Amino acid sequence: MLSESLLEKYRDLTSRYPTKRSALIPILLTTQEEMGYLTPESVRFISDYLKIPEIQVYEVITFYSMLRTTPVGKYHIQVCTNISCLLLGGEEIFEHISKRLGIKEGETTPDNLFSLVEVECLGACCNAPAMQINYKYHEDLSVQKVDKILDQLKQQG
Ligand code: FES
Repeated sequence: MLSESLLEKYRDLTSRYPTKRSALIPILLTTQEEMGYLTPESVRFISDYLKIPEIQVYEVITFYSMLRTTPVGKYHIQVCTNISCLLLGGEEIFEHISKRLGIKEGETTPDNLFSLVEVECLGACCNAPAMQINYKYHEDLSVQKVDKILDQLKQQG
């Protein structure tokens, strides 16, 4: 069952669009923000609420890497390894983080602090290599820069 505050957000979001279904992505993002990830129950509820077949909700969720159906750590590290980043060391950055945190693609550290995934172009090619941690972009990366970022996050806990 979704919280009353979440339902209030749904009402607010749908009121901003000419049709209810147009609010699908903002509703998915809001739900994920509140619940951590999109559970099967929340997807079913959203499907009913917006009168969109469940399969279409999943089609949107699986298209966008920012939407997820499994829990992630407090810091969701998304490293771009698409062409511009790849040419400028994106794969090395990914491998370095993987080795340092002791987790592979799609895994989360045992303390639930970090999750790591490889993603397609983040739209930051001019400042490649790039990664996104939660909603924050980190660009022009080097192994040293990555270490500094991870140290800071680890310190913040
Ligand atoms: S290729 Fe990495 S941000 Fe575009």
